Amino acid sequence: MAKRPKTVFACTECGAQHAKWFGKCPECGAWDALTEEAPALQGEEKPLGSGLHGGRPTPLPEVRPGGEARLPTGIGELDRALGGGLVPGAVILIGGEPGVGKSTLQLQMASALASGHRVLYVTGEESSAQVAQRADRLGVMDSPLQLLAETDLDTILGRLQEQEAELAIVDSVQTVADAGLQSAPGSVAQVRECAARLVRYAKQTGTILCLVGHVTKEGALAGPRVLEHMVDTVLYFEGEQGGQYRLVRAMKNRFGSVNELGVFRMTGGGLEPVTNPSALFLSEHEEPVPGAAVVASQEGTRPLLVELQALVAESPLTQPRRVAIGVERDRLSLLLAVLYRHAGVALFDQDVFINVVGGVDLSEPAADLAVAAALVSSLRSRALPERTIILGEVGLAGEVRAVGRIEDRLKEAAKLGFKRAVIPAGSAEDLDNPGLELQPVRRIEQALELLLE
Ligand code: TYD
Ligand code: MG
Repeated sequence: MAKRPKTVFACTECGAQHAKWFGKCPECGAWDALTEEAPALQGEEKPLGSGLHGGRPTPLPEVRPGGEARLPTGIGELDRALGGGLVPGAVILIGGEPGVGKSTLQLQMASALASGHRVLYVTGEESSAQVAQRADRLGVMDSPLQLLAETDLDTILGRLQEQEAELAIVDSVQTVADAGLQSAPGSVAQVRECAARLVRYAKQTGTILCLVGHVTKEGALAGPRVLEHMVDTVLYFEGEQGGQYRLVRAMKNRFGSVNELGVFRMTGGGLEPVTNPSALFLSEHEEPVPGAAVVASQEGTRPLLVELQALVAESPLTQPRRVAIGVERDRLSLLLAVLYRHAGVALFDQDVFINVVGGVDLSEPAADLAVAAALVSSLRSRALPERTIILGEVGLAGEVRAVGRIEDRLKEAAKLGFKRAVIPAGSAEDLDNPGLELQPVRRIEQALELLLE
């Protein structure tokens, strides 16, 4: 018989297990993602026929559809991100870096719902007293919410059942441990097993389950990433370190559209919904400044005007720096190549920095043309025209490609006082009176000439 390996190395990204450590997971290619842990025990295979005592199939017409009985959380921006509220039996994963506000939002939601529903808040990270201190700060001390400071999975499941909780919050899933497993709390095996049993419980009983999970900047900690496929909805918290705004984005949602965005402001009394955020991410300049461009981004069903800033400066390094915050680095490299090839703008010897105001993640290609324009504007120390928004995806051939939902974006820009829009020619057809002057362009060099000559 082959000897059982003492430990295995599990990938925190894809969950694959390997006999030895690799710097890069051979399965999914993630770097520095393998952690050592005890192997999962293989159960004995049972004889055929032993599975006939469990659930029976039901003909589809006899099954009552779950329907759309949604439970609004009472927090508008959270309901927006959830696609209209909580669905019975749904499991929601709330991920984000430590300190971003996950526990705050969960406590606000739990206390709001506790007046009409049985809510159990399981706290594994903080003591009940610490949670109460937060509740006091949030002004929800009177809420009939049940608090349980516990990390043992069996106890948690037992109490959920005893309390017949309709909503359960587990903060955080990384602190929960199944005593039957050897691995340490927070390891991939523990997090996955505990989450699986909690999810099973939620599905069997119709309990709404919110799992809070930490991710570090590198996404290295075991948790959210290995759980994403087990849950119905994944919400991620984004926000600038030290900044007051928090964005809650649905990355996956079985019950609604993805990329719906909830916007909050962190105040002394908790997270406050920001219902009209479209002007939030424009910085206030008296005069237009070089390197700044405004793009009308589309976040789910809502247009959001965002300013992005570029700084181009001669580099002392042999390998100049390429730093992109809020824009994908690969996208930036691609744009630099297109700028050189099709617009004759060479930035090889320049450090290039891109930053999106307010910590917004501007990964949609519709921002390409604005990024390119901001770069050239900074390089030439010439500001882009005032009150102008720039929209368009840039292709490798230098062409400016159409973007989706152009009408909504333009309307929002007009509402906020923008006068002019540089847009892809392909998007300009069938636009009736968007309320600002349109300048359709077909190519990147044409757009740059229009904006900066
Ligand atoms: P928290 O919800 O504990 O973050 P997480 O659970 O994601 O780790 O939020 C922590 C931060 O929020 C902390 O720095 C304090 C701040 N905060 C406020 O500014 N106002 C408040 O009312 C509360 C409760 C927290
Ligand atoms: Mg917390």
